[in-house]
Amino acid sequence: WLDQLFHYHGFWLSTFALRGSMLLHDHFKPRPTDIIVATSPKCGTTWLRALVFSIVNRHSFDFSDHPLSKMNPQELVFFLEGAIYIDGSTSFVDGLPSPRLLSTHLPYSLLPKSMTDDASDCRFVYICRDPKDVFISKWHFANKLRSKHLPPIALEEAFDSFCKGVSHYGPFWDHVLGYWKASLESPKKVLFLKYEDVKKQPSDCVRKVAEFLEVPFSPEEESKEMVEEIVKLCSFENMSNQEVNKNATRNSGRPISNSDFFRKGEVGDWVNHLSPQMAEALDHITEQKLQGTGFNFR
Ligand code: A3P
Repeated sequence: WLDQLFHYHGFWLSTFALRGSMLLHDHFKPRPTDIIVATSPKCGTTWLRALVFSIVNRHSFDFSDHPLSKMNPQELVFFLEGAIYIDGSTSFVDGLPSPRLLSTHLPYSLLPKSMTDDASDCRFVYICRDPKDVFISKWHFANKLRSKHLPPIALEEAFDSFCKGVSHYGPFWDHVLGYWKASLESPKKVLFLKYEDVKKQPSDCVRKVAEFLEVPFSPEEESKEMVEEIVKLCSFENMSNQEVNKNATRNSGRPISNSDFFRKGEVGDWVNHLSPQMAEALDHITEQKLQGTGFNFR
């Protein structure tokens, strides 16, 4: 159910990610104003891209005629390793005006020091999600991308490799902990969010991201309910119903339909797919992996 993955410095990467990471190390020049949306796949990248874009650019666009109504968030917050991979160089990202809004799935430890050093001012907004929901979202996504000529991927087979840590940019837990530790050590550099918290209290999360990015909402903006406008604009209901997210296809290494990034957008859908034994096994692995780290998914 996976493309060929390589074990590289503790993580499982496709040739696409591996090449992206190497090109990043060799050529990417971070700017102090760079804002990077970082995620393990299926944790809410699309959503966070939309939120960050609309927070940072809230003075540039009218909410009734917003770029997010016409473009998929990936056309506004650029997938770093994807852009570099397609170009074979950093010329595309080098040409973007500041502040650049970028995204990556790479683990923190695999990013170049020029990005993660405290001396570099670029900032990361990370979002993680309950691994049970991540796994189910990944499994659906992998089946969507699979050739119609092949049988669907068996849930049990996919579950087994996910639990062993073998998944794109996995092990999942190590990815999360890399950014979690970075957020503790460098809270001004890395903001750590949970999908479940954003779902529960989206307005609070929007304010938190804005403060972290040093563009807090003014009392006047609050009185105009700008936070709520952003929450509504980026909601699953609104975004999944945009024409561009229903019908367009894009190429990030291979052609993918925008609609594949909008499935249910809910917390706890795992309950419809995993047996109680599977859920317990995954929770147990999570508990062991997170023991002593001060982090949990609850
Ligand atoms: P589900 O498959 O559980 O529905 P990513 O963007 O990292 O690939 O993650 C995709 C997951 O985020 C999918 O989860 C998708 O439905 C969900 N998602 C996409 N847009 C969302 C939004 N605006 N709000 C909440 N969830 C969203």
